[in-house]
Amino acid sequence: MPRTLAVQAPEDGVRLITLQRPEALNALNTELLGELAAELDAAERDAETRVVVITGSRKAFAAGADIKEMAERDLVGILNDPRVAHWQRITAFSKPLIAAINGFALGGGCELAMHADILIAGEDARFGQPEINLGIMPGAGGTQRLLRAVGKSLAMQMVLTGEAIDARHAQRAGLVSEVTQPEFTVERALQIAKVIARKAPLAVRMAKEALLKAQDTDLASGLRFERHAFTLLAGTADREEGIRAFQEKRPAQFKGQ
Ligand code: CAA
Repeated sequence: MPRTLAVQAPEDGVRLITLQRPEALNALNTELLGELAAELDAAERDAETRVVVITGSRKAFAAGADIKEMAERDLVGILNDPRVAHWQRITAFSKPLIAAINGFALGGGCELAMHADILIAGEDARFGQPEINLGIMPGAGGTQRLLRAVGKSLAMQMVLTGEAIDARHAQRAGLVSEVTQPEFTVERALQIAKVIARKAPLAVRMAKEALLKAQDTDLASGLRFERHAFTLLAGTADREEGIRAFQEKRPAQFKGQ
């Protein structure tokens, strides 16, 4: 049983992971990151799980790396940091991941949110990379993913000043896709998860991979990947079912085959 997370299955095919370290505003210590990586590994292996939603509390999605834990690490400790392997497992999660963000998403918390494929924010959410105030810089993808999400100028401003932006600004900049009233953030994320959970799993997985490729490859390679993925899906039973269901005017029953 994880101690720092709650895991629920609120809808068919959907897992909801809630970060639960209220005493530290969900700061990401080694234990929490390890438990989160293990839960995502389990969700990856479970064929019934199609989509994962991750959330925190009303006050904080996550306030960053655990600074008290960081204070105990010297350079050797940082070089052998077990959290690096946990982050790599979180990054490798291949099913759709939706973040429902209320309150603070700072430092590693903002970086965790940016691991999600879809970000839904409550009006009170605040996104920031304040590491510069600690004499360090983002180390879990903050410089790379933030720049790709919001562009150079805003990413530079956020990382170099350490100042956070609010949810509406994050939406205008393209970091989040929707802003909700804070009490509906999780509900809205679950609604989206439920829609995706009913789609053909192989098509969803391939589409996610192709979209992520667009961020880190040139157009010609990305288009080649898209064409291969599209062709592969042509051999699936779900494609046949999707087309047949359309012609028979009924909902498709996808099986992931
Ligand atoms: N690590 C450990 N504990 C944290 C924490 C963190 N990142 N953020 C908050 N806490 C703890 C506080 O120490 C406090 O605990 P105590 O009562 O035991 O002192 C408790 O959570 C509540 O926090 P505050 O009293 O500070 O709450 P607030 O509402 O006044 O302020 C806040 C909220 C603005 C988020 C403030 O807590 C804050 O600035 N937190 C640090 C944010 C930060 O710098 N994050 C980046 C960390 S570095 C990083 O993330 C690097 C990386 O991944 C690679």
